[in-house]
Amino acid sequence: MAKQATGVMDAIVSLCKRRGFIFQASEIYGGIGNTYDYGPLGVELLRRIKDAWWDDVVVERANVVGLDSAIIQNPTVWETSGHVGGFSDPMVDCKLCKARFRADKLDDARCPKKPSKKPTECQGELTEPRAFNLMFKTHIGAVEETASVAYLRPETAQGIFLNFKNVMEAGRLKPPFGIAQIGKSFRNEITPGNFVFRTREFEQAEMEFFVPPEEEQQWYDYWRKARYDWYLNLGLNPDKLRMREHETDELAHYSTATADIEYLYPFGWGELEGVACRTDFDLKRHSEASGTDLVYFDPQAKERYTPFVIEPAGGVNRMALTFLIDAYEEQQVGKDVRTVLHFSPQLAPITVGVFPLVKKDGMPEKAAEVEALLRKAHLASFYDEKGAIGRRYRRQDEIGTPYCVTIDGDTLSDGTVTLRHRDSMEQEKVALDELVQVIHERTAAWERPVPQAGPE
Ligand code: GLY
Repeated sequence: MAKQATGVMDAIVSLCKRRGFIFQASEIYGGIGNTYDYGPLGVELLRRIKDAWWDDVVVERANVVGLDSAIIQNPTVWETSGHVGGFSDPMVDCKLCKARFRADKLDDARCPKKPSKKPTECQGELTEPRAFNLMFKTHIGAVEETASVAYLRPETAQGIFLNFKNVMEAGRLKPPFGIAQIGKSFRNEITPGNFVFRTREFEQAEMEFFVPPEEEQQWYDYWRKARYDWYLNLGLNPDKLRMREHETDELAHYSTATADIEYLYPFGWGELEGVACRTDFDLKRHSEASGTDLVYFDPQAKERYTPFVIEPAGGVNRMALTFLIDAYEEQQVGKDVRTVLHFSPQLAPITVGVFPLVKKDGMPEKAAEVEALLRKAHLASFYDEKGAIGRRYRRQDEIGTPYCVTIDGDTLSDGTVTLRHRDSMEQEKVALDELVQVIHERTAAWERPVPQAGPE
């Protein structure tokens, strides 16, 4: 059953709140613009996405290492990086209603005056565009004086450039090598929106890959493909994924080429992740400004050079929204509609639902034992004995749990359980002592099902 764009987004927002994925932040005080908290299921989804990213980008590679740098750095960092001068959006103000809009996004903007109209349809005149810096300012120390102004980082990347030499020397690394970081970044976006697609506070997963300058193109090609494949391997619909090269006038101030991996959201194509050529821009600027030579000395060639950088950079919250949207399906099953999230088992917040068929005859006790066994094997589990078994399956389908295990009379007599699969709704009998292994096998073999009717 296809839904209109707003219908799908509304359904997902409602599911996220109802089932504990995502809540409005400060909700009991009326909220705070476009800021969200992640509930018990949401935090697990974020953790699994970050783990999948870290495994793919760091753990499985000998030439990428991790870092966790500070959110507040010396403010000179942001002058040198060009963010103080250049990290801004062009903004216009309505002289009538005083609302502020992004000059380059006027078509998507709505005047706050009701009934809501496009800017200028309220007869208000717009000011000339002015640059509005996106960095949040704060103050260090007790006195709010100019000298103590600092910034919340708008990207995790700069912390990596600052530590280039430390990490390279400590790890005795030689280009090509990468430094990866996952952490919060902050941007004072004027037009955030579409739920957690664009929020002022967000978590970034970034990697700066340092290469000899002549290998720039080769690694740009490599990382565009590697990052695109990562999304496909986690089950995103290939028909809703595309790679788009930036036009010259779209490029960030530090980039000579950038490709966006884009997803077809219910509200249109949007950036999911960017892969950028940052050249030697950042290392050279920080070398000049700090007086510390951020270069690599190649002992064989007896050459010093500033590596070029390829940067895959994505927002974890946006990834979570994308996986939610892509997984969401309202499926006709006989006369019923079942809501199901077809998450990759690698990302599902709960891996196994554990149910006693009935609340008697020793089944709840046996089911509790099974749940403990699964948890010990690090398979996130959820015990449920309430209501009819069909309803218990549906509750797990709605949050994307790929497997449900039912403990019945056979479990007590011959040690088998029923393993039910979310996507196909098929069931198989499995010996209890093989359950963990079978779940791992089915997870390794998982493929994205073709949706009966996904979000349009
Ligand atoms: N470091 C790239 C970005 O923040 O988009």
